[in-house]
Amino acid sequence: MSDALRLGIAGLGTVGVGVVRIIQTHADMLRARSGREIVISAVSARSKGKDRGVDLSGYAWEDDPVALARREDVDVFVELMGGHEGAAKDAIEAAIATGKDVVTANKALLAHHGQAIAMAAEAAGRVVRFEAAVAGGIPVIKALTEGLAANRINRVVGVMNGTCNYILTRMQGAGLTYDQAFAEADGLGYLEADPNLDVGGIDAGHKLSLLSAIAFGTQVDFAGVELEGIGSVIIDDIQNADQMGYRIKLLGVAQMTGRGLEQRMSPCLVPQTSPLGQLVGGTNMVVLEGDAAGQIVLRGAGAGEGPTASAVMADVMDIARGLRLPTFGQPASTLRKVASARAAVPAPYYLRLSLLDKPGAMAKIAGALGEAGVSILRMRQHDHTGTHAPVVIVTHKTTRAALDMAIGLFAQTGVVDGDPVAIRIEEV
Ligand code: NAP
Ligand code: HSE
Repeated sequence: MSDALRLGIAGLGTVGVGVVRIIQTHADMLRARSGREIVISAVSARSKGKDRGVDLSGYAWEDDPVALARREDVDVFVELMGGHEGAAKDAIEAAIATGKDVVTANKALLAHHGQAIAMAAEAAGRVVRFEAAVAGGIPVIKALTEGLAANRINRVVGVMNGTCNYILTRMQGAGLTYDQAFAEADGLGYLEADPNLDVGGIDAGHKLSLLSAIAFGTQVDFAGVELEGIGSVIIDDIQNADQMGYRIKLLGVAQMTGRGLEQRMSPCLVPQTSPLGQLVGGTNMVVLEGDAAGQIVLRGAGAGEGPTASAVMADVMDIARGLRLPTFGQPASTLRKVASARAAVPAPYYLRLSLLDKPGAMAKIAGALGEAGVSILRMRQHDHTGTHAPVVIVTHKTTRAALDMAIGLFAQTGVVDGDPVAIRIEEV
């Protein structure tokens, strides 16, 4: 048995405490499986006196995570504080500069600074691992970097934010309005401190940008992710989709196109019968499409103490075993910088709009669609309010650009009330 692997853990919240708990309860199993004892040298958090439900008395305490990262008795710096600037970034940089390997669950930090951090780590001969940052307990980073390493990845698709899936599922299953389902998710403690990270699609967009880097050998490009949250989805959309055989999901899609890397995180209609359509509650699912392996579907808990700590420990154990892979599956210097392509691949769209109930109104809408080159597959007008008619249109395959042109033309017709809602229909 070789020397113990010594950890410094910064952040003792949900995930940090979960990691401490696994190390304390499974010490023998971890040693047997990784060939080394895994021990905690020191920990850090904001408040030293807080009762965290685990015994921390055997570990040194550092108020400053940067000091923790620099300690000589730390081999691996485990960053579980969060935030894409400030303490987490400073401490990770200090850890790399002082010769430590790094394990983090911080998708926001890597989405913004992943390339620079990977370059710094590789220049220093260190590894940075982040299994817990994407889809919690699902080993999706491992699947891409190891299991599917010999595949050209054609597409990555997934539901990567459990909170949004919970809200949409409750709207679907219990007929709750968005506000009611949001309040329920809040009551269950699902929402991030800034809820817009969840419902605005940002958290899931961070995750998608990290998967894209590995899947397509490109530099992390969070700015290139086309982001749209779930705030404009109303119960009528959920019900309309249901009647057409679809579910609405906050769906991430990444694929390389002739015009560049397409990365989208937005509400989409997916077939009810597909694995993604059947995903309920706070669960995550990632679908990977490899040219040799075909489609791989990974499903599991995307958040929470146990699942996320499980993923952190998988990274720690790899380091203990001596597995030293580049951060994004290939050396950071070989990752390509590519153009981003906005919704490049055509698809059918669901359109909902409120039309003034007067002669010729529908003709004007059909004319605007025709002028933009968008063809109608089906159309329904129902539940007239007296002055307005809610209209649902499903288009043939079209580009987002053509659809946006049509929506722009709607505004000039004088018969559309408010902003139309357009949701892509994704065959998955
Ligand atoms: P959390 O419960 O809010 O815990 C954050 C911890 O970091 C707390 O212990 C806090 O100290 C400490 N901390 C924050 N700022 C600090 C600073 N400047 N110096 C020292 N300590 C500091 O967060 P979490 O849910 O465990 O998430 C941690 C990371 O995992 C984040 O990057 C998050 O995005 C990621 N993640 C979380 C989940 C999940 O299910 N929770 C899933 C996947 C990924 P105090 O306790 O003293 O306040
Ligand atoms: N807010 C995230 C979610 C937590 O709802 O999936 C895990 O990253």
